[in-house]
Amino acid sequence: MDKFTIQGNTKLTGQIKVSGSKNSALPIIISSLLTDEKCVIKNVPNLHDISSTIDILQYLGKKVEFKNNTITITKNGCCKTDIPYELVKKMRASFLSAGPLLARYKHATISLPGGCAIGIRPVDIHLKGFSKLGAKIKQKGGDILISAKKLKPAKIILGFPSVGASQNLLMCASLVEGKTILENIAREPEVDDLINCLNGMGAKISYQANKVIVEGVKKLSGINHTVIADRIETGTYLIAAACTKSTIEVINCEPENDEILIEYLQEAGFNVKCGKNSIKISPRTKNVKPVHIKTAPYPGFATDLQPLWMVLMSQAKGTCEVSEDIFENRFMHVAELVRMGANIHMEGKTASIMGGTSFTGANVMSSDLRGGACLVLAGLCASGETVVDRVYHIDRGYEQLEKKLAGLGAKIKRKKA
Ligand code: UD1
Repeated sequence: MDKFTIQGNTKLTGQIKVSGSKNSALPIIISSLLTDEKCVIKNVPNLHDISSTIDILQYLGKKVEFKNNTITITKNGCCKTDIPYELVKKMRASFLSAGPLLARYKHATISLPGGCAIGIRPVDIHLKGFSKLGAKIKQKGGDILISAKKLKPAKIILGFPSVGASQNLLMCASLVEGKTILENIAREPEVDDLINCLNGMGAKISYQANKVIVEGVKKLSGINHTVIADRIETGTYLIAAACTKSTIEVINCEPENDEILIEYLQEAGFNVKCGKNSIKISPRTKNVKPVHIKTAPYPGFATDLQPLWMVLMSQAKGTCEVSEDIFENRFMHVAELVRMGANIHMEGKTASIMGGTSFTGANVMSSDLRGGACLVLAGLCASGETVVDRVYHIDRGYEQLEKKLAGLGAKIKRKKA
């Protein structure tokens, strides 16, 4: 297993370029199942989760080429409608294939994705939506069988604005003739990006107040689509600069998608200046001010940035509360931060972080994607050497994180297993 070794206490400086959004690219690549025509998707980050998605598409009968961050997908024979556990277990987002397969072939058999380090992560909201659209759902030996003689439009109120369920139902309803109304759907930029892509393929999806109306069409065409910038990667670099009291510029990003983070960084004592596709951050005051956060669906504070915010708040003058309201177990990084010197007290879904920590380098272990990234940030501000193990978690969501940070002057290296 690869590791990162980090020599801490270094200031960062210069520009860092953000890749395309992983969470946007995954459903957009999967939406190619809705058509036999050619789909060209640009600004796709080269990540393990993307390779896993390509494996799924190839298994299902697509020809996929991935070069220079562009994916070209064409038809390659007939389409299968089952996805075995070996493919699903690598990546939960494979469950997003259910919507397109059901819409086009009236059938999908997909192994139930299990939980993961951050929570149980059920798929009941996806399945309730498919039932409303007329599908029958059965569970057999760890597989979910979804089938329908004919799908029908419906009014679906999501019990929670789940990002995955919103994406799955939007893809499915696009090919269900008639008017489907989706209420309480997720408003994440990644959902908007999928809607733009689907509309580019000929879907008829529009917002009406707080509802999304999908006028189903008979057929969707190919697409040439560019994925939006990764707002979580953007946030990671902004927080990395804040933790190390550095001045950097993040480029190729979309500042409007990180609004709440930018506001909180300003409140914590940083100058944050946005250009059209860039953000500059520099320290404004000597002390970092504690800023409490509660994770929430967009436009609230992203759950993915919560572990990173905890590293910054460990540097604050005073105590800060961080509440995790999306996932029930997204605090695995806390024990590792404590090993590096953080003073964090947990009570249920709230962490109280006593500021003023001087992190010291240690051997630590990533437990999940963003938890791993937060250990890298702690390593950047720690004295001495930090070794972050199980870097494969970080590689799932960051394209060459160590090379990009080294470009800002960080002393970080990958040690190959
Ligand atoms: C979530 C985040 C998203 C982030 C992604 C990757 C939110 C609202 N969503 O999206 O911003 O990019 O993780 O870390 O912050 N749930 C159910 N039943 C379902 C589906 C979901 O109970 O059928 C629950 C989940 O267990 C979780 C919550 O709803 O507690 C949010 O899930 P969802 O938005 O679907 O997760 P992701 O799509 O993975």
